[in-house]
Amino acid sequence: MAITGSKKGQIAVLTGGGDAPGLNAVIRGLTTKAKKYGYDVLGLCDGWAGLLDGGKEKPLDLDDVEDIHMMGGTILGSSRTNPYKIENGVEQVKRNLEKLNCKYLVAIGGEDTLGVAAKLYKDGIKVVGVPKTIDNDLSETDYTFGFDTAITRASEAIRNLHTTAQSHHRVIIVEVMGRHAGWMALEAGIAGGAHAILIPEENFDIKILVKIIKNRDEKGKNYTIIVASEGAVPKGGDLKWKDEKVDAFGHKILGGIAEQLAEKLEEITGKECRHVVLGHLQRAGTPTAFDINLGTRLGIRAADMIENGEFGKMAALQGTEVVPVPLEAAVGKLKTVPKERLDEAKIFYEL
Ligand code: F6P
Repeated sequence: MAITGSKKGQIAVLTGGGDAPGLNAVIRGLTTKAKKYGYDVLGLCDGWAGLLDGGKEKPLDLDDVEDIHMMGGTILGSSRTNPYKIENGVEQVKRNLEKLNCKYLVAIGGEDTLGVAAKLYKDGIKVVGVPKTIDNDLSETDYTFGFDTAITRASEAIRNLHTTAQSHHRVIIVEVMGRHAGWMALEAGIAGGAHAILIPEENFDIKILVKIIKNRDEKGKNYTIIVASEGAVPKGGDLKWKDEKVDAFGHKILGGIAEQLAEKLEEITGKECRHVVLGHLQRAGTPTAFDINLGTRLGIRAADMIENGEFGKMAALQGTEVVPVPLEAAVGKLKTVPKERLDEAKIFYEL
């Protein structure tokens, strides 16, 4: 169904990858500003899957986006489908955009979704990207929306776990999301008062963890909270991943590090150890004010970029400004935690 009445043309918008609080704020910001310029906006459902299949589009009007910025998730739905992994997927994407009468495309997503967007731009699509991920691991942007909500939720859980760990003199390992970058573990861990933080960027030493636990015990603080990214890896390969499945973009589906570490630490220290996996609670529910504001600004800027013909680019937060940067630069390399940032956390370790 091709729906467009405006002379300026129609903008298609999709949300891809894992959802992140703030997605609806982007959709509202984009739709509102695009309407002011005189464009029509068409929401594509379920990420690239919706564009490949066709037939599940929603025209977006101002009434459709009123107040959605305060809601978590995405009103458009999401998926991890990769059109470049599907036979004739790219041709299908192009054909459907044409059929829907969409001259422009706004792709809101992380490394994978924007990686597809960068390739589509080279294949002739007028695309603009908006960075999204609770992992905060996209290059060229200081922060991605969704991250602030995720660390707010995780840090609150970590903080609360102190009382039960303390009451039972236990070690609790809290597993947070983050496959290749430890931003969430680092910032939620510091804010939540973790006694050790394990991130994918630096293999951790179980002996150091044992030392921290023992030192705290000797000082009479006989409980310890350890925060681990799901992608954290021990030195020497003592612990093995339980699950070696991969998703459509070839990423390992992780999980299990906290459980395995709890078993190992209980065995070595003789202390009761428990694990908690925060999982999807980190990205579920209402966005924080920071994420709503960032999402709103990125959505508005994406509309400006279409109006200015700035295609093949992504709206990025640099300092306090939202600026266009090439999509290729944003997806070329993951933004990981530098050593100095982990060293800041380590000054609080009881070693
Ligand atoms: O990329 C965002 C993210 O939340 C990662 O932190 C996590 O590893 C992954 O998505 C989980 O994916 P899914 O929702 O498909 O289980």
